[in-house]
Amino acid sequence: MQSIATETKNREAKSTDHKKTQVDKRFKTLDITIKRNHYRQDALIEILHKAQESFGYLEPEVLSHVAKQLKLPLSRVYGVATFYQLFSLKPSGVHSCVVCLGTACYVKGSDRVLTAIEKELKIHVGETTPDGNVSLMTARCLGACGIAPAVVFDGAVAGKQEPEMAVIKVKTWQEDKE
Ligand code: FES
Repeated sequence: MQSIATETKNREAKSTDHKKTQVDKRFKTLDITIKRNHYRQDALIEILHKAQESFGYLEPEVLSHVAKQLKLPLSRVYGVATFYQLFSLKPSGVHSCVVCLGTACYVKGSDRVLTAIEKELKIHVGETTPDGNVSLMTARCLGACGIAPAVVFDGAVAGKQEPEMAVIKVKTWQEDKE
């Protein structure tokens, strides 16, 4: 599984420091889940499930983080993540939009943000636009409650989202591809 490890490293290198700072809190949330499970290797599925809830999908950095924390070979973590259909390793669209529906975001109207995006893209959560340009997902707390409601656009967390703002963002993606 050397190639998987190499691919993960390459992808990690591509991420900008700015992006990493913004998403760090999600890793903190993930660490809390791992700690609650006492770093048990047999809690892998449960931990991956929580990770997917936080990130929307299981990106390579997340899988490698889980592997490190549980002291499991990365190949094992990939094996489990690819075996179960409930796990998604990447959004199938060119762009990804993850709307947080955690409590703090929900009370600040993230459901309205989600509805507006669904209406604009004419898709529902878990779907990708027919042109393959945008995938829409939800998460349960991104660890950015202070800037609720939060949405992650292509891996970058954006806070205090209004439906109109979020729609403008996804509209730009749709226009740029034309
Ligand atoms: S509930 Fe949305 S970031 Fe915490």
